[in-house]
Amino acid sequence: MLGNFVYSNPTKLYFGEDSKKHLAEALKGYGNNVLLTYGGGSIKRNGIYDDVMSVLSESGKKVVELPGVMPNPTLEKVMEGVKAVRENGIDFILAVGGGSTIDYSKAVAAAANYEGDAWQTFWVEQKDPSEDAKILPIGAVLTMAGTGSEMNGGSVITNEPIKMKIGKVFDDRLMPKFAILNPKYTFSVPRNQMVAGIFDTMSHIMEQYFSGDDDSTSDYLSEGLMRSLIASSRVAVKDPENYEARSNIMWSATWALNTLIGEGKTQDWMVHMIGHAISAFTHATHGMTLAGVSIAYYRLVMKYGIHRFARFAKVVWDITPEGKTEGQLANAGIDALAAWIKEIGAASDISSLGVTEDMIEGIANATIDLPGGYHHLTHDEIVSVLKNSL
Ligand code: NZQ
Ligand code: ZN
Repeated sequence: MLGNFVYSNPTKLYFGEDSKKHLAEALKGYGNNVLLTYGGGSIKRNGIYDDVMSVLSESGKKVVELPGVMPNPTLEKVMEGVKAVRENGIDFILAVGGGSTIDYSKAVAAAANYEGDAWQTFWVEQKDPSEDAKILPIGAVLTMAGTGSEMNGGSVITNEPIKMKIGKVFDDRLMPKFAILNPKYTFSVPRNQMVAGIFDTMSHIMEQYFSGDDDSTSDYLSEGLMRSLIASSRVAVKDPENYEARSNIMWSATWALNTLIGEGKTQDWMVHMIGHAISAFTHATHGMTLAGVSIAYYRLVMKYGIHRFARFAKVVWDITPEGKTEGQLANAGIDALAAWIKEIGAASDISSLGVTEDMIEGIANATIDLPGGYHHLTHDEIVSVLKNSL
């Protein structure tokens, strides 16, 4: 571990099938005027809404509902939330959903008491709210595993008119105060969303793993998480109601992106930057965009970080190094990743996500350029990753 860092994570987690019993206790100490945010209605069909509402009413909370948070939440929708907070004197936001609802709630919490242009300040300029900013506390009941939003400060928002999807990682003040993680709540997630969440988790780990070359505990933690995720994914795609597999997937997703495995490291995140630009153009599901471009991306950058890619093949995929050059071993690791993408039913290309040749230049232009991986991509290389992913 050669880097310097400060590690802190204020989110209190309640995990397991009994975790819902802790919601009342978790809500204690927070305000009485609760904004309940959720998505397109899955929580009404699977009973989670009833579970949460009964606790809220037993706890004497006054609830204002804000439904309809869409996957890849928009700035326009954030402004609707800001209005609801201001008009109703909201003092706590309870997000019930996946990454979209939780990210959305952080955005509303940051923007609600901000008088300036929230999009420009927080997402474009990547500034944090001022020290004296009044930030609403949020809590989360997680219904879908993948983003890690339940234990991080990330808030990814899409500005539809200008086709920009940008993530802002807020500081501790915007992280959920608590999160209820009940793996059973994820049983009703449609198969393609479950798979997208699994690949999103894998991608979060790879974005942090494929960078740097010192001997770092963070990378060993990443390898363990990837092995657990791959093993559980193979069970879950055959048997989605396997509690053990779904609970491992949920826990892996949380730890994949709560800053732990990125400590002391430079990080890549270019697969995410390309994936976000694809979603801004197509509304495609986040995890699928990542699966669709990962193979072309890693084949391109592999030669710049060959030792790490060879280690990935050996440690994560159990590929025997005997009789192989380092390059062959590294390639075999990416082959294994490609085979796993097919095996679990994630996207192997971006055409199936609605990307057409004429969009490529626009998507490449909307891709935010980050220098932290093994190779800093040029514009032409981004175009070539996209073309090779079609
Ligand atoms: O809207 P509802 O009806 O609830 O349906 C949702 C939605 O259609 C459904 N769903 C969720 N839980 C369910 C369920 N359906 C049945 N039963 C359940 N228990 O699944 C669909 C997808 O939900 P969504 O919240 O959009 O998925 P996800 O958790 O993958 O979140 C994606 C968003 O998070 C951002 C992505 O960019 C995207 O906008 N990310 C956030 C990150 C962070 N905070 O750190 C990092 C990630 O890299 C990512 O960028
Ligand atoms: Zn992601």
